[in-house]
Amino acid sequence: MFDEIEFDKIKRLPKYVFAAVGELKMQRRRAGADVIDLSMGNPDGATPRHIIDKLIESARKPKVYGYSVSKGIYKLRLAAADWYKRKYGVNLDPETEVVASMGSKEGYAHLVQAIANIGDTAIIPDPCYPIHSQAFILAGGNAARFAMKLNDDLSLDEGAFIEDVKRVLIETSPRPKYLVVNFPNNPTTATVTPAFYEKIVALAREERFYILSDIAYAELTFDGYKTPSIMSVEGAKDVAIESYTLSKSYNMAGWRVGFIVGNQKLVGALAKIKSWLDYGMFTPIQVAATIALNGDQSCVDEIRETYRRRRDALIKSFANAGWEITSPKASMFVWARIPKALRSMGSLEFSKQLLINAQTAVSPGVGFGPAGDEYVRIAMIENENRIRQAAKNIKRFFRENGIAVGAEE
Ligand SMILES: Cc1ncc(COP(=O)(O)O)c(C=O)c1O
Repeated sequence: MFDEIEFDKIKRLPKYVFAAVGELKMQRRRAGADVIDLSMGNPDGATPRHIIDKLIESARKPKVYGYSVSKGIYKLRLAAADWYKRKYGVNLDPETEVVASMGSKEGYAHLVQAIANIGDTAIIPDPCYPIHSQAFILAGGNAARFAMKLNDDLSLDEGAFIEDVKRVLIETSPRPKYLVVNFPNNPTTATVTPAFYEKIVALAREERFYILSDIAYAELTFDGYKTPSIMSVEGAKDVAIESYTLSKSYNMAGWRVGFIVGNQKLVGALAKIKSWLDYGMFTPIQVAATIALNGDQSCVDEIRETYRRRRDALIKSFANAGWEITSPKASMFVWARIPKALRSMGSLEFSKQLLINAQTAVSPGVGFGPAGDEYVRIAMIENENRIRQAAKNIKRFFRENGIAVGAEE
């Protein structure tokens, strides 16, 4: 009877590619298989004790149960500004240049709702974290994609990136108003140097577009690599915002806390839309998040070290199974090229094969965009023993099927 009523925005959202692997994973588990789940970027570790204690202490106070502040309590915004000052030497005004968000995903998606006009185009490198492109689609805009080029060590080919952005700016109509950058990158783990941000900010000022930068994995870095921030570039505030989250660095993914900083016009637009849509996170969560940012940071070192150990175990044990993978310098992921002998089946089919034959769940690269189809993303969210077990299962799968891996890569 209501068939003629269509939900155009929902229709524009594609089916989530990961759902196919997710459903198969549940089927295998129901059938009794011990699936090693390396698919989602969902940290398995506990939030550090002092942060939980602060939540409990704050939740016992009588005045915390009412509506909070939609753009975040002042102390949390100040803590975010102090984090930038300490880490990057950047000065931010907590009143006009910082908004706290319910995780960076909510903040980003609502920012895009607030700023994108119907038909606006944003340049989104391919592959990408899915909401980076879909937020523009949901807002009635479009994503102009280009395949991101990486060097052999998984660092970004920065020169090629700048040239690609210039080309897409010229080729795309209407002319793009936004560029999304995310380094360390999900899914590819790609990293950049500070010089990259200088060049991209200069280009944005010259060509008049805004840059939305996401540094969710800023603290998960290895081998001496340090994540640069676009905010360190002089003049960045004229053209850029940056989002950060407590989800990964403090194992707080379920708490839903992050923040967005930078350009006053964009940050102000986010604050305004949030004031219409919500009343802010539960105050004790914001108080505990403030403690996370201001308190002892040794917990972050421990979380980083956990991922480093897992990364080393993964690279070594998978190599032993004949699957040579480049070791990432950052993030909680490994971006693994599918072994040559199996590459032609595509990442979705390969992921299914790994689930069925090696009880290991990974994310198909194509779920992050067409340029990801020769890869799978492996999330390091199980312990080292489980990772080694996955490698053993994979080795058996390759052997039993006579799949020649290794030498010919
Ligand atoms: C690049 C990137 N940005 C943002 C997020 C979302 O994080 P949050 O929990 O802060 O919403 C993720 C989560 O996986 C991510 O990979």
